[in-house]
Amino acid sequence: MNLRKVHRLATESFRRNEAPPSREVACGVVRYFVAQKGLPALKAGGHPFSFNLMSQTAPNVSRMEKIVSLCKRRGLIFQSSEIYGGLNGFWDYGPLGAELKRNVKELWWKSMTRLRDDIVGLEATIIMHPKIWKASGHVDTFSDPMSTCRSCKKLVRSDQVWEMIGATPWNTALEGLVSEGNVDVEALLKWGAGKGGKALPNLAFVQKPDEVAPVVRAAGAAGKLDSAKAALEALATPVGASAPVTPCPHCGGELTEPRPFNLMFKTYVGPAATEEDVAYLRPETAQAIFVQFKNVLETSRVKVPFGICQIGKAFRNEVTPRNFTFRSREFEQMELEFFIKPDEVVEKSVGSVAKLEEASLEEPAANWGWEVWHKYWVETRMRWYEGIGLKRSSLEEYWQKKDELAHYARATVDILYRFPFGTQELEGIAARGDFDLTQHQQHSGKSQEYFDQEANTKYVPHVIEPSAGVDRLILALICEAFEEEQVTDEKGQTETRTVLRFHPRVAPIKVGIFPLLKNKPELVKKALEVRDLLRPHMNVYYDDSGAIGRRYRRQDEAGTPFCVTIDFDTVGENGPEKADTVTLRHRDSMQQERVTIDGLLARLMGAIL
Ligand code: GAP
Repeated sequence: MNLRKVHRLATESFRRNEAPPSREVACGVVRYFVAQKGLPALKAGGHPFSFNLMSQTAPNVSRMEKIVSLCKRRGLIFQSSEIYGGLNGFWDYGPLGAELKRNVKELWWKSMTRLRDDIVGLEATIIMHPKIWKASGHVDTFSDPMSTCRSCKKLVRSDQVWEMIGATPWNTALEGLVSEGNVDVEALLKWGAGKGGKALPNLAFVQKPDEVAPVVRAAGAAGKLDSAKAALEALATPVGASAPVTPCPHCGGELTEPRPFNLMFKTYVGPAATEEDVAYLRPETAQAIFVQFKNVLETSRVKVPFGICQIGKAFRNEVTPRNFTFRSREFEQMELEFFIKPDEVVEKSVGSVAKLEEASLEEPAANWGWEVWHKYWVETRMRWYEGIGLKRSSLEEYWQKKDELAHYARATVDILYRFPFGTQELEGIAARGDFDLTQHQQHSGKSQEYFDQEANTKYVPHVIEPSAGVDRLILALICEAFEEEQVTDEKGQTETRTVLRFHPRVAPIKVGIFPLLKNKPELVKKALEVRDLLRPHMNVYYDDSGAIGRRYRRQDEAGTPFCVTIDFDTVGENGPEKADTVTLRHRDSMQQERVTIDGLLARLMGAIL
């Protein structure tokens, strides 16, 4: 389900104290409850529909803070433009983050293109003809509702006002004025004249206390002030207003009616910079695939069903970027548009369309219709995530309900990950029918039809779209890998070991190479030989400074799955039988074993491929 919708339904069901309509919305209720009242209240079973979900979904703030701090400390992720104060919603990847990201993208690309015969790649421009975004619907409908404060002029997302209020420090005091479903009106007015008024100087009550106070008292006497929200609205509404005023979370001023705010970044192509020259930074990579469908078809030896995939930057001027890199304004997507025959053509070609419950999803078959293809891609993508280190138990499939689907979608499954700040979308897999190609056919006037020789008919292919976010996946991998554990060293001292348990496939550094001592030339020489043996094949890190234990810890924090130590045995000082062997240390178990240098490359390649 669209996250905005989840949030709206969650806040509604929370305020009305009604059972949430779905599990996903229930998770939203938990997040909202925690933002309003804090984790202890939730743990105490403070909300009737949330406590049984709490263990899975309550935000784990301190874990997230530790992860963010590790990312900065170890050069995984930095704030963009940090020395100038940063730019909200933009993030840079440091040396380790860049390697991690590269590995993930390469694994996706390989799984989509090199290991399959039915998918080819594309690399398109970020700025494309503006008519594409008209045809796709982005110009008209890709927006969030925005309001402006008439007093302080700040912009807020209209559907997030009450959530923002819930997260303010002053709201706790306001909530404290509600008891048994009634607000203590005199205490409310006192709060408005004191601390509340200081925090929200543009409340109507603060501006004109003599006019507004009698109206607030009358509302209280009529039993209309039954919640903190109703109380705050009463203080925010000037006398004579036709409807309750929603206060600005920053100053208490009146917010304008919501109006749509388009999320696409605009720019101009060429020097004139007139309205005619407007172009957009693409908000998704998918549209380039649709508009190049015919070119790819005519230049590659592909036949429907087949796919075109692309990895690339996308830009969305998100009103409230948040949760670290989770919702950014510049991010990368890995998208596949998989073109299939319409069901009626499958039926015409092979006699019948496979039923979902009967189809084996192992090997694609000629009788697969859209439902089976869709399920196949959900399964394939789930397996891929597991293969790079996300446990099945950390993932969820959310099958959108009919009323949640975008107008063009026949089915959409969101693959969710249990982030410390809540269970959120990693990837959406949508069955989009023939919507996109038909739109481009209409708007461009160029046929997007495919002539199917087997069926001897022409049609606009239908599409299954697995669309994943690289940055969200990087964040999920870091969250999954992060662990702090108590370990006891050789001297019996206990310490906290911070470790990133990355799957060796994605780990930024695959192996650390250490000469036992840096002032012994024979050890250094051998260690450099081992480094040179391995580094054409994988990212290695040579480290000769500090005690070996400290070097191991540094690599644990970087998520390096293996470390190799070159010692006096290696150079044959303790007899020929140990010569040319090294210590291979495993990050997760911290076990060490002796292996020959000859066998090292094959051993490591086996783990990282
Ligand atoms: N072509 C379909 C499409 O773009 P979407 O659900 O809007 O669908 C797909 O985006 C994926 O892109 C999401 O599942 C998410 O992983 C990623 N994504 C979307 N908006 C993002 C943002 N603001 N920051 C980071 N990743 C984002």
